[in-house]
Amino acid sequence: MTSVQTVIAADPEASCDADLAAGPWVFDLTPGYGPGASERDTLPEPVVRPDQLPAAYQRMDEAELHARIRAAKETLGDRLVVLGHFYQRDEVVQHADFVGDSFQLANAALTRPDAEAIVFCGVHFMAETADILSGPDQHVVLPNLAAGCSMADMADEESVEAAWEELTDLLGTEPDADGRQPVVPVTYMNSSAALKAFCGRHGGIVCTSSNAATVLEWAFERGQRVLFFPDQHLGRNTAKAMGIGLDRMPMWDPARFLGGNSEQALQDAAVILWHGFCSVHRRFSVAQIERARREHPGVKVVVHPECPMPVVDAADAAGSTDFIQKFVAASSPGDVIAIGTEVNLVNRLAAEHPDRTIFCLDPVICPCSTMYRIHPGYLAWVLDGLVAGEVRNEIVVDAGVAAEARVALERMLAALPR
Ligand code: 13P
Ligand code: SF4
Repeated sequence: MTSVQTVIAADPEASCDADLAAGPWVFDLTPGYGPGASERDTLPEPVVRPDQLPAAYQRMDEAELHARIRAAKETLGDRLVVLGHFYQRDEVVQHADFVGDSFQLANAALTRPDAEAIVFCGVHFMAETADILSGPDQHVVLPNLAAGCSMADMADEESVEAAWEELTDLLGTEPDADGRQPVVPVTYMNSSAALKAFCGRHGGIVCTSSNAATVLEWAFERGQRVLFFPDQHLGRNTAKAMGIGLDRMPMWDPARFLGGNSEQALQDAAVILWHGFCSVHRRFSVAQIERARREHPGVKVVVHPECPMPVVDAADAAGSTDFIQKFVAASSPGDVIAIGTEVNLVNRLAAEHPDRTIFCLDPVICPCSTMYRIHPGYLAWVLDGLVAGEVRNEIVVDAGVAAEARVALERMLAALPR
């Protein structure tokens, strides 16, 4: 099957954003994402802005870029490990030593303590996590610093601190008779290191989409309520599957006093949901599922839990990217499967299972535009740098932030997916 990149290059209008057909260096500077998307990371000196990818790399054809990447990997050998998220374009995934979801990649970073460099083909919060979990002498590199995550940007430290102050003013800080604190903060992996540190210092934890249910159970053993950020959909879908009523899941709007809720609603709450969302997964709809069922009787529909609740409810199954991968692997030849997640993963699964009909629920080709900013040009450039003894685009989390964030991440790693 042709890769997403090739399809978009051939017909830019086939995608939700025709700009994606250009190299990311053309649109990296548009406001929204990028360095600073996560807080308190130290930008490399001299600061290398995305538009400074040397022109020579911008002009290289794909064959030359792939040859350079392979040669650099060969030279660096065990000194290097390349991690690739499932949503990366095929042109990048082919060079990854580990491909996985964010939980697996956080673990993969730990399996190579002797590698001098971890090149993370994913987004900023994933590279920050690898830096926090890796050894002090290891360098973590994000090939394009503009690869942020729009959802992670929806919860900033200042707004979460302000919410915490309002909640603790209202609910107090004293544990109840069972020793459970009034609120336990839970941050989705898709958040800045600063927010992971916030959870570490307030008795909280990090979750990924694969272990969110285990993490919520952990939190309810220790708290009467959970403040869940930034993704309202993962929080709502997970809590609902645990039997928690929607009337006990108020949403927190940081622009409003008490998040726009009454005191009573917060007192009665089980999970207080931050108002963030993923722009990729928000595109999936019940109408798309109905159409898939109409056009393909017997189709199985599987979606990511970042999709809105009505979509998860209308699907046959929901789970992390790894869950989706396993769902497809467990299907039979001849099956028809419609998937609600990022298109690069969907198309790769379709290519790996040519004896099944596998397609993306969204008829428009709409990759995660921040994941898409990792282009082979950037990968070749950072690897050539490592060969020359130069670490480019290093992600360095402030030591104090990292120490607190590690506490919450280690709790996450111990909360195994079901
Ligand atoms: P996973 O945790 O399933 O890898 O998802 C990460 C992500 O960013 C999904 O949008
Ligand atoms: Fe962030 Fe959504 Fe992209 Fe995942 S798919 S990295 S949540 S913007």
